[in-house]
Amino acid sequence: MTVVARTRAELATARDAMSGVVAVVMTMGALHEGHASLIRFARAHADGVIVTIFVNPLQFGANEDLDRYPRPLEADLEVCDREGADVVFTPTPDVVYPTDPVVRVSAGSLGTVFEGASRPGHFDGVVTVVMKLLHLTRPDTAYFGQKDAQQLAAIRRMVRDLDVPVDVIAVPTVREPDGLALSSRNVYLTPEQRESALVLNRSLRVAESMFAHDERSAGAIRDTVTSMISSEGLAQIDYVSVADCETLDELESIEHPALVSVAARFGGTRLIDNTILTPLP
Ligand code: PAJ
Repeated sequence: MTVVARTRAELATARDAMSGVVAVVMTMGALHEGHASLIRFARAHADGVIVTIFVNPLQFGANEDLDRYPRPLEADLEVCDREGADVVFTPTPDVVYPTDPVVRVSAGSLGTVFEGASRPGHFDGVVTVVMKLLHLTRPDTAYFGQKDAQQLAAIRRMVRDLDVPVDVIAVPTVREPDGLALSSRNVYLTPEQRESALVLNRSLRVAESMFAHDERSAGAIRDTVTSMISSEGLAQIDYVSVADCETLDELESIEHPALVSVAARFGGTRLIDNTILTPLP
């Protein structure tokens, strides 16, 4: 049975009772198959698994969907139970932030590009809560989805730059059968927007195929992906990027693993997706 911890004290007691390799999977709830796959990876590789469910106000901008972000707690607890989580930490904001956090973690230059350009402060909010949840859960390993590649890059860099004693492990993006990357925000899409949104995955598959046919010009891949997405009526492109996986610096040519990432709006819903192109040595 999964133990549900709502307070810091309950979490500490549950954590103290765990032994061996402990993994954490951090989420904002509204759990779908992508989250479930993170829990499964953790379950397969660790002795104990803690899932955190917390909609972090610090990473939402003033005009974002903090209030309407879905919070189906009962269904989420069932997913955690089914996937074999040992502990689920479901704090309220005042448990995580008993006082306004004056001292915060900064994602630096990794937080200002791509998603960060249209969401100022978002990644500082993410790495701050991730750091706090790492301290509270004290894991050996932490599992994050490749779906949020910039978030993953910022967390990896925080762990490296601030000597955080945890192994960060990336889990591949889980998709619908038609290719749409699973996201808690997909529920906002109308059927027409959802159909249009398939262009994101389609354009990334074309990028992969260009790369497989020896295209090494980042510009050529960027242009093709951009024109595919712009030709989709309901899509409004936010960015198309071909960048270094770690520094997120935009590339001219692909000599090392490159992150192709896209973001577009479909009506009021902003979706992101990405793929990694890895040159053979
Ligand atoms: P959330 O969006 O709930 O995502 C939780 C974790 O699930 C992240 O590591 C994310 O990359 C992963 N994930 C989401 N969709 C996925 C998919 N389709 N396939 C695989 N993994 C997927 O990301 C956050 O929450 C927050 O920013 C958080 C890290 C919890 C900090 O508040």
